[in-house]
Amino acid sequence: MKTLDDLLGEGVSGRRVLVRADLNVPLDGDRITDDGRVRAALPTLRRLTEAGARVVVAAHLGRPKGAPDPAYSLRPVATRLGELLGTEVTLAGDVVGESARSAVGALGDGGVVLLENVRFDARETSKAEAERAGLAAELAALVGEDGAFVSDGFGVVHRKQASVYDVARVLPAYAGGLVLAELEVLRTLTGDPRRPYAVVLGGSKVSDKLAVIEALLPKVDRLLVGGGMCFTFLAAQGHGVGSSLLEQDMVDTCRRLLAEAGDKLVLPVDVVVADAFSADAATRTVPVTGIEDGWLGLDIGPETVAAFGAAVRDAGTLFWNGPMGVFELAPFAEGTRAVASAIAESEAFSVVGGGDSAAAVRVLGLPEDGFSHISTGGGASLEYLEGKDLPGVAVLSEER
Ligand code: 3PG
Ligand code: MG
Repeated sequence: MKTLDDLLGEGVSGRRVLVRADLNVPLDGDRITDDGRVRAALPTLRRLTEAGARVVVAAHLGRPKGAPDPAYSLRPVATRLGELLGTEVTLAGDVVGESARSAVGALGDGGVVLLENVRFDARETSKAEAERAGLAAELAALVGEDGAFVSDGFGVVHRKQASVYDVARVLPAYAGGLVLAELEVLRTLTGDPRRPYAVVLGGSKVSDKLAVIEALLPKVDRLLVGGGMCFTFLAAQGHGVGSSLLEQDMVDTCRRLLAEAGDKLVLPVDVVVADAFSADAATRTVPVTGIEDGWLGLDIGPETVAAFGAAVRDAGTLFWNGPMGVFELAPFAEGTRAVASAIAESEAFSVVGGGDSAAAVRVLGLPEDGFSHISTGGGASLEYLEGKDLPGVAVLSEER
């Protein structure tokens, strides 16, 4: 696979380079609540602009329905990217249309244009290869004859989409610095991790995490499960879970996993329950044997925090994906905060697996430098750990 270094070695001054970045940040209105992904995109963009490239960035925001939708405009991201780069970033008004062509045409050496949300074009996420190829060809045309493609949107490399996958087949394609750094960390986790290797998993659904649980169980020493998905496991152990999140059709699967995993799989022993999904609900801390009807579990309890903390403290390698509770609501943030702090304080090689967990680190004000690596890819890092091929990475080593 060719890399950004190879491209810089060839020389990029005056050349147009298309960069796929993952700038899919959480927004509150048009305020970015966590700009981690924008900051993670900077090193590759800076290396290109400093070398005199004319940089065209393609990115998505959320999941618009394949047509322009102002609620999903990359406008706030263009503003933030410009502030962080210390240079004007022009936002094109479309993806590959008139506005994109003229913005790219006006680019000078070292300049940056951000294309509007690439998912405003339905071909981006189309299942039909020919449709995606059509968009890929138009993206390639923006950078022209001596153009190049740098794949740096690690958070989206698990998607077989036009600006991630197909475009890499029509332009000379290079892996960006972020993609390379992320892959190196994940390789450490799948290779020969320092023991004990503990994984902390949370989030709402077992069904989303099933494949990764199955893939990790033989490799890890401890798998600590919190978050909404723990209730399906608790139900599989025979506990009543009241109105907590429950995936009824996963109960048998959880029962099998518990049997196979033995004492590797560690579940909460107490939880914080509430009488409503709300920050001002009545709350109690109860043992997992005492969740009453009408109450729902929204966080792990203090005894669980202590047990998870102990497992975290003696680990040599840690991977954490998924919050322990509804951390967005203050009364249910403590479990996530405490477990994340224990991870941050540990001496282990610690990796935060993207998405909500990465946002939680910053939103809860935890020290980012306490972690060895905070991934920008939630789904992408999980799929890697599951042993799946990441289309946006695999395509970079295809013979062409
Ligand atoms: C993410 O936030 O998980 C990535 O940006 C990919 O987005 P997607 O899940 O909508 O494809
Ligand atoms: Mg996602």
